[in-house]
Amino acid sequence: MRLEIQVFSSAADLAQAAAKQFVTFALAAVYDKGIFSVALSGGSTPKELYELLADERERYSSQLPWNDIHFFWTDERHVPPENLQSNYRMAHEAMLSRASVNEANVHRIRGELADAAKASNEYEDELRRFFQLTPNDLPRFDLILLGLGADGHTASIFAGSEVLDERDRLVAATWVEKLESFRITLTPPVLNNAATIIFLVSGAGKAEVLRDVLEGDFDPDRLPAQIIKPVDGMVYWFVDQPAARLLSKRTSRG
Ligand code: 6PG
Repeated sequence: MRLEIQVFSSAADLAQAAAKQFVTFALAAVYDKGIFSVALSGGSTPKELYELLADERERYSSQLPWNDIHFFWTDERHVPPENLQSNYRMAHEAMLSRASVNEANVHRIRGELADAAKASNEYEDELRRFFQLTPNDLPRFDLILLGLGADGHTASIFAGSEVLDERDRLVAATWVEKLESFRITLTPPVLNNAATIIFLVSGAGKAEVLRDVLEGDFDPDRLPAQIIKPVDGMVYWFVDQPAARLLSKRTSRG
């Protein structure tokens, strides 16, 4: 695993840098293979990036090969797509509805299904179909965007979760006690098979957990984001100064 931490003066600068990288990776993948597969993170941090990518006043939208980009999600809440909690809804409002995206290229997790396990199984089938996987294969996303919860979770892998030990499934439905709800999430083998992962972390509220994840003892059961160690991939941590405040000077920075 190759890791690079880049610290930006503000969340706006972080979003601009992430947008630039997104375009670079998208153009390279489409040049190379004709498509770009990306798994979008939910939560609030990536919203500014998604808005930037689709904003025609910015320089990114016109550069992106929208029709060759396939959008997936790292995780979804157990809610319908129109629900304010939906990660799909956030990305659709911020980006997908504003760019010329082919509906067939949007592969959302059907959080509306009453049975979260059914939604998870269905998404796993979608991954196997899209990536044309044999039974033991793993999908290799060109890019996976991840966030970091103040409690150390990433995607919908929370402390103590059984998903931390999942080695066979590509997608899992998991009960999150603290949220009293199910979540559907990509599993560590899929996340760790990505070509590139970009963590987007901003705000003073993430300073302690970011220091613990990057500089603390390896304890993924307590800090699930530490499970992210791509076998053959690059991990970028794009963080703003408030979130990076407690990082020691020895932590290498891009
Ligand atoms: C989700 C996300 C989750 C998120 C972190 C950080 O469904 O909530 O996938 O992993 O990335 O909770 O969220 P913020 O960006 O809102 O801090």
